[in-house]
Amino acid sequence: MELLDKLNWRYAAKAMNGQKVSEEKIANIIEAARLAPTSSGLQPFEIIVVKNQAIKEAIRPVAWNQSMITDCSHLLVFAAWDTYTEERINKMFDLTNEIRGFKNEGWENYRQMLLSNYPQKDAEENFNHAAKQAYIAFSAAIIAAAFEGVDTTPIEGFDPAAVDKILGLREKGLRSCVLLPIGYRDTDKDWLVNLKKVRKSTEDLVTIVE
Ligand SMILES: Cc1cc2nc3c(=O)[nH]c(=O)nc-3n(C[C@H](O)[C@H](O)[C@H](O)COP(=O)(O)O)c2cc1C
Repeated sequence: MELLDKLNWRYAAKAMNGQKVSEEKIANIIEAARLAPTSSGLQPFEIIVVKNQAIKEAIRPVAWNQSMITDCSHLLVFAAWDTYTEERINKMFDLTNEIRGFKNEGWENYRQMLLSNYPQKDAEENFNHAAKQAYIAFSAAIIAAAFEGVDTTPIEGFDPAAVDKILGLREKGLRSCVLLPIGYRDTDKDWLVNLKKVRKSTEDLVTIVE
């Protein structure tokens, strides 16, 4: 199946059947998220993979009681950095130097530029910027799951502060921003499964500037 066929097959599952997704497929989905581009390559987020059923049960009531939270196989929690710090920025730049095996003046100047900008900014502004990067990885995970023939539901309908508390995220300098249950659709229980996909037309979406 072509990628676009798979993206047409994909929808935001409203009911999942509890069937487990293989660890190989989960690893491929997470790898797609890890490979996603981010601003300055900082990857300012972490992904918490909740397999524990009791934790899923605890999250469901603070996520509008959405059944996919407990009926999924793996629940991904995308958690962005609560702010940008010197330490966090340096860690990623040092990693780049280590992996590439050399230091580059332009890259080091860019590091200094970020260090003189980000850490001084308001933490909320930094978190919002970090969360945007997390959403890029989130989108990559959704597409990768479709590629693997696995269902997902993007979920913003939850209380982030409550999820942070359940998972102890604030202590780690993280804040949850979006959830992604991964599993298999329950075709008998899902009201959305047979409804047509609704998207605005390409003409309404795209403006071509020749
Ligand atoms: C960031 C984001 C948050 C969403 N939050 C929820 C949610 O909390 N619950 C839900 O059932 N669907 C949620 N959705 C699913 C959207 O309603 C759905 O993707 C949209 O209507 C398009 O339909 P489709 O994905 O089935 O093609 C969310 C989607 C995105 C991208």
